[in-house]
Amino acid sequence: MVVDFLIIGSGIAGLSSALKLAEKFPEKKVLILTKEKEDDSNTKYAQGGIAVVTDFVKDNFDKHINDTLIAGDGLCNKDIVEIVIKEGRIRVDELIHWGTHFDKDDKGTYKLGKEGGHSENRVLHHKDITGFEIERALLSAIHKTDNIQMSSQHFVIDLITQHHLGRIITRATKDIKCYGVYVLNKNTNHIEKILAKTTILATGGFGQVYKSTTNPTIATGDGVAMVYRAKGRVGNMEFVQFHPTALYEPTVSPSFLITEAVRGDGGILRNQSGEDFMERYDPRKSLAPRDIVARAIDHEMKIHGHDFVYLDCRHMNSENFKHHFPNIYKKCQSIGIDVFKDMIPVVPAQHYACGGIEVDSYGRTSIHHLYACGECSNTGLHGANRLASNSLLEAIVFSHRIFEHASSVIDEIEDFEDIFPEWNADGTSHPKEMVMITQSMRELKDLMSSYVGIVRNNIRLKRAQERLYLLFKETEEMYNTTTISPQLCELRNLITVGYLIVRSALLRKESRGLHYTTDYLNKKSFAEQSIL
Ligand code: FAD
Ligand code: SIN
Repeated sequence: MVVDFLIIGSGIAGLSSALKLAEKFPEKKVLILTKEKEDDSNTKYAQGGIAVVTDFVKDNFDKHINDTLIAGDGLCNKDIVEIVIKEGRIRVDELIHWGTHFDKDDKGTYKLGKEGGHSENRVLHHKDITGFEIERALLSAIHKTDNIQMSSQHFVIDLITQHHLGRIITRATKDIKCYGVYVLNKNTNHIEKILAKTTILATGGFGQVYKSTTNPTIATGDGVAMVYRAKGRVGNMEFVQFHPTALYEPTVSPSFLITEAVRGDGGILRNQSGEDFMERYDPRKSLAPRDIVARAIDHEMKIHGHDFVYLDCRHMNSENFKHHFPNIYKKCQSIGIDVFKDMIPVVPAQHYACGGIEVDSYGRTSIHHLYACGECSNTGLHGANRLASNSLLEAIVFSHRIFEHASSVIDEIEDFEDIFPEWNADGTSHPKEMVMITQSMRELKDLMSSYVGIVRNNIRLKRAQERLYLLFKETEEMYNTTTISPQLCELRNLITVGYLIVRSALLRKESRGLHYTTDYLNKKSFAEQSIL
């Protein structure tokens, strides 16, 4: 079977691409593969909202562009920033058309939130569960579309390229082509081969490489690792965003997020002595961009030897708070915190991957017939640090641009014969001890959190590199001798992600945005992407 359009992932990027392609080509089949349940995604957890200019009296595109460039610390691609911010307005209307509800006031005007680094209120939201609402609306539209097939519990293992026909492919090979994927059907435990004229990766982020993250368990960097294994290009991997305010609950994973919109509505960060410490770090105080706030919190915790700082909401209007943040209010209440009497203990946690699979302005990767969008891609929008709530926007703008390009070339792509081998599991057997995988996963998360966190230096990075190499060797041996399981594949992918983060971090001989190293405290005079 050869499908026209194969989409990997069922978050905002994958679902919005599928809807557009299916609508334009009712006679063609669009297949979505997703590794767990159809709504398992980072998208479902998005809280604050989607940044887009809707109030053209106070705000304008130039202000949003400028805020994005400032947050990105000299490494954004300005053309891409303009594209995303200007085209984003129409794309948000499409989300609304598909059934997404954003909060409005009594007069029917959109309520606009504010987050770190934004000079104006411009974040459309659905209470504090914006992502849940978007995912709900998109899935509901998908279910009404006949020519979309959604296969959940399908774990994509690898891209099929000429490598599978015995050709030697290197990173210098110019004409690598993607012909589809090998996928583990978790319902049958069989590895299937799915061929496609066009493949779109929308596999999301990689937060699970760290011990403490706001990302759900699906965020294992599979797309990035698959592209790198297929000798495609990835970039800016050192720019890992830590959200300043995850709820401090050391035994809970993933970490529960306290949206930055709480600070936008007046929440104040305080250290354990009650001091509004951000005054000492940045004139924008608690609403400075994320890299600055997360680093300041990290510093405060280190100098005072504390495990967390506080977010103070006690002075905020209780009715407004409960209305805008019902989920946070409920969560805090469930662990005995009354946000109007008690301060909320918070700590930074890994949150977002600014880098990823290198793409051009139409979402094309360095591998032919392979596109990427959403958090797994590196479009150039975020540079060295993403501006809050720009991620959902980027996903819908790029899924649309991929739709435009893929639909314009689909009829030029020649039919091809299935000459690709079936998955070869010869010589492998069931793993004797699954605990080896879980133990290695623990080691990986520990070393990434200890040596490749918010503040870095060369000694720590090199130590991480050496430990990663050992884990890599052990895991490859396991991979070559045991039958494939999602756990083993995820471990292997996360080790690749860890390696790419560390290698990019070692290459960057400066402190910029989210990459802060005590070996090079200043910025170089010009900014360069780190492409591997
Ligand atoms: P995802 O939504 O993560 O979807 C990835 C999909 O790929 C999933 O369905 C997954 O199962 C599937 N997949 C992955 N690997 C495989 C594989 N091997 N085989 C098959 N399927 C696979 N951004 C904002 O702009 N505003 C916000 O308010 C905001 N809040 C956030 C709050 C939280 C707690 C988190 C975690 C993130 C937040 N973000 C926010 C970031 C934003 O939610 C994500 O960047 C965005 O949703 C990513 O969408 P995506 O479609 O690229 O990936
Ligand atoms: C938040 O709500 O604070 C997260 C927003 C984002 O990650 O863009």
